[in-house]
Amino acid sequence: MKKVILDCDPGHDDAFAMMLAVQHLDVLGITTIGGNCTLENVTKNALKVLEVLGRTDIPVFAGHSCPTTVPLVTAPQFHGETGLDGPVLPEPVTKAQDKHAVDFIVETVMNTEDVTLIATGPLTNIAAAINREPGIVDRVKELSIMGGSVTYGNWTPAAEFNIYVDPEAAYRVFNSGIHVKMSGINLTRQCCLTAEHVAKFREIGTKAANFAADLTEFFIDTTVKSASLSGANMHDACAVAWLVDPSLIKAADMHIDVELKGELTRGMTVCDYRHLRGTDPAVDLCREPQMDYRGEQPNAEAALELDFPGFMELLYRTLEHYN
Ligand code: BDR
Ligand code: CA
Repeated sequence: MKKVILDCDPGHDDAFAMMLAVQHLDVLGITTIGGNCTLENVTKNALKVLEVLGRTDIPVFAGHSCPTTVPLVTAPQFHGETGLDGPVLPEPVTKAQDKHAVDFIVETVMNTEDVTLIATGPLTNIAAAINREPGIVDRVKELSIMGGSVTYGNWTPAAEFNIYVDPEAAYRVFNSGIHVKMSGINLTRQCCLTAEHVAKFREIGTKAANFAADLTEFFIDTTVKSASLSGANMHDACAVAWLVDPSLIKAADMHIDVELKGELTRGMTVCDYRHLRGTDPAVDLCREPQMDYRGEQPNAEAALELDFPGFMELLYRTLEHYN
């Protein structure tokens, strides 16, 4: 099993990322970051999710409450006031560890071989860990993120939420030398759950599956109201699914940087795909032969195409296997 640390801000789709990770990967710890909601709430939510999954053996470490240079932006219109509205859950019995998330990340990576990082919230903790101990760059196996986009944004026309919240941190990470696997909005919009999927979760009927159904019902409702989409995108689960079953995602190597100054484009991931033939990077670039790179050498792999039926199979199987 791949050894991972999951840095997240649960968040409905973060909860799905946790469900996949906890069952299919060796999760050394969950670290939390202010993003969808306050640090206090997302940490509490992470503990609640682990309690539903019966995995309170996995330690949780709270990280930064906000970006270093700008105030925190949260997303109550999608995740509710608690960050995980919808399912009715008791207050968690378990507590977060005393150690700071950044200390946990640095110590674990420096002392354990082949750790993969997963980040499904703003990249504040990951950038702080790199700044604290640049030696982690050569020791981390790779970093799988949900964030950014090869094409359009969601928070602004150009920027996706996780990158928009802390662009300086994202810039640090993409320019650090760590190999980044980017599941951006262009990919995660292909992962759209509707009432039909909720019905299947109810049919599976395990505690975890009913929890998934409650989460999805709430998330569909807010996504339809706030973003006029037809269902709920399980963005964060894609970054984990890619590690669990790489055949689910087609991707292309490219150089990715982060726009920090643009009046309209702050937080945009600028993806150089000039070496790829085709016109629609969300759909058909990965099927075409590559030409020589025209700009800088790739620092990332951008996800382009999701096998959505395969993803759902993995998710159903996962929910069946929890108790
Ligand atoms: C990202 O923003 C958050 O609201 C989700 O949890 C996901 O990580 C999608 O843009
Ligand atoms: Ca998230």
